[in-house]
Amino acid sequence: MCGIVGALATRDITQVLVQGLQRLEYRGYDSAGVAVVDENGDVQRRRKQGKVKNLEKLISEQPLSGFCGISHTRWATHGVPSQANAHPHVCNDIALVHNGIIENHEELRKQQIQQGHEFDSETDTEVIVHAVYDAWKVVGDLLAAVQSTIKQLNGAYALGVIEKNKNGRMIAARKGSPLVIGLGDGEFFIASDVFALLGEASKFIYLEDGDVADITLDGVIIYDASGKQVTRPITETELKADNVGLGKYRHYMQKEIFEQAAALKRTIEGRIENGRLSDSCFGEDANEAFKTIEEVQIVACGTSFHAGMVSKYWFESLAGLPCSVEVASEFRYRPHVVNKKTLFVTISQSGETADTLAALQASSALGYEHTLSICNVPESSLVRGSQWHLMTKAGLEIGVASTKAFTTQLAALLMLVVALGKHKNISKKQETDIVRQLEILPEKVAEVLRLEPEIICFADQFEDKNNALFLGRGEQYPVAMEGALKLKEITYIHAEAYPAGELKHGPLALVDEHMPIVAVAPNNDLLEKLKSNLQEVQARGGKLFVFADKKASFEEVEGLSLIRVSEIDDVIAPIIYTIPLQLLAYHVAVIKGTDVDQPRNLAKSVTVE
Ligand code: M6R
Repeated sequence: MCGIVGALATRDITQVLVQGLQRLEYRGYDSAGVAVVDENGDVQRRRKQGKVKNLEKLISEQPLSGFCGISHTRWATHGVPSQANAHPHVCNDIALVHNGIIENHEELRKQQIQQGHEFDSETDTEVIVHAVYDAWKVVGDLLAAVQSTIKQLNGAYALGVIEKNKNGRMIAARKGSPLVIGLGDGEFFIASDVFALLGEASKFIYLEDGDVADITLDGVIIYDASGKQVTRPITETELKADNVGLGKYRHYMQKEIFEQAAALKRTIEGRIENGRLSDSCFGEDANEAFKTIEEVQIVACGTSFHAGMVSKYWFESLAGLPCSVEVASEFRYRPHVVNKKTLFVTISQSGETADTLAALQASSALGYEHTLSICNVPESSLVRGSQWHLMTKAGLEIGVASTKAFTTQLAALLMLVVALGKHKNISKKQETDIVRQLEILPEKVAEVLRLEPEIICFADQFEDKNNALFLGRGEQYPVAMEGALKLKEITYIHAEAYPAGELKHGPLALVDEHMPIVAVAPNNDLLEKLKSNLQEVQARGGKLFVFADKKASFEEVEGLSLIRVSEIDDVIAPIIYTIPLQLLAYHVAVIKGTDVDQPRNLAKSVTVE
């Protein structure tokens, strides 16, 4: 999604603005732009469609410099990706960047056209800069102009605004879209996330919804939604600019797949004591409240939704708790019948996914009394808006395709299953067994990663395919869904997942010798059922690629290629079997030469509806 960077210093900050955009490239975008206030106090702007490197080239041909500025990567929503639609948008001497969607932009645009404004773009954003200018003409002050403008806006926004001003001044505002202020040594920055500012600032202020910040070289003054001056906490980040490189890996996705053993170790660390789950995992008061929980409602999107789907099997089979899982974009727009003793759980890597956040915000009005988030970003809106949280501690995930975020979510969810289940169906012995499986996860992950050379041989056979099916049964069905999502998002091969038993109810019609079918087949109670389903595929000439447990009696025959996964306990099988599917998608993408880390049309953090 759109990325914002802003800087105010006593040096030329153009390079800071461009480098910040490069760091935000992972969020997904299709055009980029920058505007600075030069030494005369005038606003200069450069914009370009495509990658940040195109913008860099333009700046090298038409240089600009300034001590105060804003920059932006745009992920098109209203209007095609083009230079004209790229931010910053300018009205007279005011320039503005925006992340989010202004829902009443059509109405505002009509009014502004009637008042004589001319529009240069098709974006929803441009109405904001015209409104700021109109307000500025009346009040003569940029802060007051922005405060007055945001009262007219419906929707979500993170804003960075600058003006013609020899002293330099930047206004930042947020509602619904994330924005952080970076504090340097006598220098000030804004960005969509701290990653953009590593190396420039190590202390950060996270703006709250409704906040407006007035940033000058004298400091930062923050006002809340009511206009009252407020103090927000200053936090420090542990992220360092030098530990976020690719290292020996070709892509971030590959690096992140291989980081999974270490990431899972962090997820578990400090949360297990003497073979039992620590009571303080979710906070002391959580443990007490968990005794009263009768149901679990999970809401999430994409990969995080798949993690929720896996956990449904765990909640119901291990903990004996009814569990419903729904995609956030559907959940938020339908009526619900709520048992008050339900734990409302949101899952998100970023903690900024607009639909998931909106569902959380709606939960209390719907009657849910307890909320918990499973998230990877401690300062995120989701964590701040939830009663309890469990951080996955996956570490920064840059590849758009979620990998370590997913497996660490699963480990965190399994801990939640134990924490709730020990007040229901999970005995002390079962708790110890599950905890033991969590403890050995990192070594089992390291083992399955060693299958990479064999998986590359599988991947070779997908290069010319346009479609693929993924099959699993039980808790391996959502694993198959995640495998299909990985393949489609980074290779652009159309892939669908089915519970294997559902095949003959329709999708079997698609099967012929051109259709690759990937099956996840651990040695569990459903293995024989799955085998029968796979025979139905073989009988129709479909080409099977099976990931099976060493004990599962599969044989490699014409039409069935096999990779043996080491024997593991059922409870961690969904985590382990996901990893070969991630590697398969990754290597197919490498062979096809697609943009692995920034697949077309996608964004890492989906901060708009
Ligand atoms: O940050 P979130 O986990 O809330 O993001 C939700 C989805 O956008 C995300 O999981 C997406 O499906 C993955 N990047 C796909 O790999």
